[in-house]
Amino acid sequence: MFSATTYQTRRTRLKKDLKSGLALFLGNNDVGMNYPGNTYHFRQDSNFLYFFGLDKPGLAAVVDVDNDREIIFGDDLSIEDVVWMGAMPKMKTLAANVGVAETQPARRLINFLKKARRAGQSIHFLPPYRHDNMLLLKDALNMTPKKQKAAASEALIRAVVAQRMHKSAEEVAEMERAVNVTGAMHVAAMKAAREGQVEAELAGLVEGIAVSGGGNLSYPVILTVNGQILHNHDHGNTLQRGQMVLGDFGAETAMHYAGDITRTFPVAPKFTSKQREIYQIVLDAEVNAIKSLRPGLPYKEVHLNAARQMAEGLKALGLMQGDMAEAVAKGAHALFFPHGLGHMIGLDVHDMEDLGENYVGYSESVQRSTQFGTAYLRLGRALEPGFVLTVEPGIYFIPQLIDQWRRKKMFTEFINYPALSKYRNFGGVRIEDNVLITEQGYRVLGDPIPKTIAEVEGLRS
Ligand code: GLY
Ligand code: MN
Repeated sequence: MFSATTYQTRRTRLKKDLKSGLALFLGNNDVGMNYPGNTYHFRQDSNFLYFFGLDKPGLAAVVDVDNDREIIFGDDLSIEDVVWMGAMPKMKTLAANVGVAETQPARRLINFLKKARRAGQSIHFLPPYRHDNMLLLKDALNMTPKKQKAAASEALIRAVVAQRMHKSAEEVAEMERAVNVTGAMHVAAMKAAREGQVEAELAGLVEGIAVSGGGNLSYPVILTVNGQILHNHDHGNTLQRGQMVLGDFGAETAMHYAGDITRTFPVAPKFTSKQREIYQIVLDAEVNAIKSLRPGLPYKEVHLNAARQMAEGLKALGLMQGDMAEAVAKGAHALFFPHGLGHMIGLDVHDMEDLGENYVGYSESVQRSTQFGTAYLRLGRALEPGFVLTVEPGIYFIPQLIDQWRRKKMFTEFINYPALSKYRNFGGVRIEDNVLITEQGYRVLGDPIPKTIAEVEGLRS
């Protein structure tokens, strides 16, 4: 946990930004996996962590701006809880650790909110994503879960995003730790992978390193020879010579700051020449995108530059043709690069996605595209010092998408469909790093993780 001052300062700024009303922060609860007592790994809500720091189930908090009160709702442990789970400081002490003087038992929350409503106070709440919290809101606000997302407070969303999007020095230090554990995971996978192994062996290895780092995974491991499936969480394939492994996985620290790194490497000790050509195109796009980062530059431009560069590379290989600026403007590149160049990262791997991607990643002056591919770009807005984001270009050969586009005669002026037949089973390449925007430009977080062809082959042999 950070010092009490950190959380107090955040709440003071929140009150100033919100001006009036009462902000409600619902912490997360334990969730039963197959019966109530056998729970999923507990993960606290990130907004609750940001303003109240306490990493325990069963908590909620309010910041009553109108009456200048801050209250944490939660219960002291019973003797039975202590017998089964061990002792815990009293709620009063826990609250004091994050600079909050007032606590109340959890059961009082609903009535507290009802009373505030009756008194005419506006209750600001964030879009809920857990069903138990939706039911709590239903009771407290007399509002069905279906209506809650739309009724969430735009003022509170904007106030939370305004703070969380700029990472402080102590947050950046945590994120650097997350990237370093994540780097160790990737190096271990690159060293350990062998022909004949099942993907699950490597997935287990890297998850173990995340846990050994004192935290956990920041999202489910993607580790696959089918790198063309963007979020592939299956780990059942056997590694075969001639294939590549795409590993997109990361650790979060004990304080829940996330790392999100991708590396792609050959099962054999060396890339084939075909793999090498595609890999180098992606690597050049990644390195050049990172080098271009600076405050004021809209990330949408960085995305489109990377798309154009990769399209030029594919043209040089004979897979695309014509004018690549035009091809990207029209969206033809998305056959090979159907996702965004990156997203903000922080307490969440896709930072603040629960609050609404457009509040986080876009602004009045930079609007989200509706075009297939670029529409998936989560971050488009002009960069500011303190942003931490991912840079993750990729090139994929997705047989189903190729077949569909070819059947529909999509972009035949830009795509050389006959030449693609040799790449049907190629898979995909993605390379990803985490970068802080500074006053002067940028800083890649963490110790360098091997990514040039020589470095990757060095680890593989
Ligand atoms: N790490 C997966 C993603 O960024 O979507
Ligand atoms: Mn990512």
